[in-house]
Amino acid sequence: MTNHETSEIMTALRKIVGERHVVTDPAELQVLGCDWTKIFFVDPLAAVFPASTGEVADVVKFCKEHGLGIVPSGGRTGLAGGAVAGNKEIVISLKRMTRIDPVDRVGLTIQCEAGATTQAVQEAASAAGLFFALDLAAKGSSHIGGNIATNAGGLKLIRYGGMREQVLGIEVVLPDGSILDMNSRLRKNNTGYDLKHLFIGSEGTLGIVTRATLRLMAKPRNVQLACIAVRNFSDITKILTIASMEGATITAFEFFTDVAHGIVLQHAQGARTPFQQRAPFYVILEVEDAVGGASVMEPLLEKLYENDVCIDAVIAQNSAQFKELWSLRENITESLSAHGHVRKNDISLPVDMLDPFIRELVDEVAKAPKDIEVVLFGHIGDGNLHINYVGPKSGDKKQFQEAARKVEERIFSLLPKYKGSISAEHGIGLLKKKDLKFSRSEAEINLMRGLKKIVDPAGIMNPGKIFD
Ligand code: FAD
Ligand code: MLT
Ligand code: ZN
Repeated sequence: MTNHETSEIMTALRKIVGERHVVTDPAELQVLGCDWTKIFFVDPLAAVFPASTGEVADVVKFCKEHGLGIVPSGGRTGLAGGAVAGNKEIVISLKRMTRIDPVDRVGLTIQCEAGATTQAVQEAASAAGLFFALDLAAKGSSHIGGNIATNAGGLKLIRYGGMREQVLGIEVVLPDGSILDMNSRLRKNNTGYDLKHLFIGSEGTLGIVTRATLRLMAKPRNVQLACIAVRNFSDITKILTIASMEGATITAFEFFTDVAHGIVLQHAQGARTPFQQRAPFYVILEVEDAVGGASVMEPLLEKLYENDVCIDAVIAQNSAQFKELWSLRENITESLSAHGHVRKNDISLPVDMLDPFIRELVDEVAKAPKDIEVVLFGHIGDGNLHINYVGPKSGDKKQFQEAARKVEERIFSLLPKYKGSISAEHGIGLLKKKDLKFSRSEAEINLMRGLKKIVDPAGIMNPGKIFD
């Protein structure tokens, strides 16, 4: 592309979104064209910041007419290289589209533009006395559009489902620039294919989500939280079973290893362990008591001690302790990044297959290079295990990624026999394209490709993500 052509493109984009809302500065583009992964080549042509669905549609139409690739971009907290522009694409960021409409307290819904952050929607719901159920440590930065595009899972999926379960309707700008209005507030609507589900989890490859209608619910009351120290991994699934058998309404069931705990204590400001003696594993268990009913947590912990699946446990006594215990889990991702080079796996298995899988994982990890530390944590109550390979910051980033990739590949190849998934919640993006075959059959991948061709025949919408 000649300088003259580039400058004409910029002039046209500025006409659509305004002079100040097109970025071409190379240093800024390195940030705007990249997500949290920071391991891929980044080289967008420009980043644009539309203020309305109409402007998004006009930018997309322009890109289509000029054969320009588009990378939809939200809070850029994605962990799969989905919002990465490495081939002179136009990054379309929804950062200016943050409007949240007044809460519908009768139908329990909220409508917002896709650039609203997850936390802003949680807060708007809370201010209206209600609750938005998606929760993740990136909530302050991640956008509702990004949550929809990745079908984010998060910390409360075990109780409320993931993003898909929170979405009633969406508005999407398709790759030809037309606007598909599926932004319904209906809870029930069996009128043919429910097309919104095609876009949820499609990682920006089929269109740009510009607005959404989300489900709200009553605020959970009498929520109790415990951090439980555990001796063996197999005790974790036993705790889950006992909690369910005791009739606990589990709102979160997370775990992390002592290695993860140590890294958080080292890097997260103010973090301290609640235990006098450290244990190999910890469970974060959140339960909801029935309104006016007796407390569930204390008798449950007694049961766990009786069954010898718990070494020690701490119950949060006030909101400060509640936050402190949660932060031990929520600070893992940032602490790992501060600690060293990281390669992330985000697998899921049927919950009853976790024990045998972990035994095989331990054997594989024993064969890994000694300078790769394997850190485990995740949403274990729903079968989602985060395996993070961590290498020393002083080492070469590229070499580390290559070495960790070899271990990762061996671990992915274990998954088909457990009918597990290589990505529970982060998605495929650029990071796991090669590995899609471990979780999806050829027939499924061909159907996905066919659908992509129908919706985006020119292949301009987030090109090269999920599959080539
Ligand atoms: P981005 O990173 O900007 O984009 C992600 C993908 O969505 C890209 O493919 C992009 O092209 C596409 N996209 C973005 N906006 C739109 C749009 N409006 N229309 C169409 N496509 C779009 N994920 C979980 O599932 N569970 C967790 O618990 C969790 N915890 C996290 C904790 C931390 C500290 C971090 C850094 C990440 C975590 N993530 C988690 C990953 C990430 O936060 C989620 O994937 C989130 O949904 C991404 O939102 P985003 O707005 O940052 O999207
Ligand atoms: C989490 O559960 O904390 C997130 O998915 C982020 C991560 O895997 O690091
Ligand atoms: Zn997660």
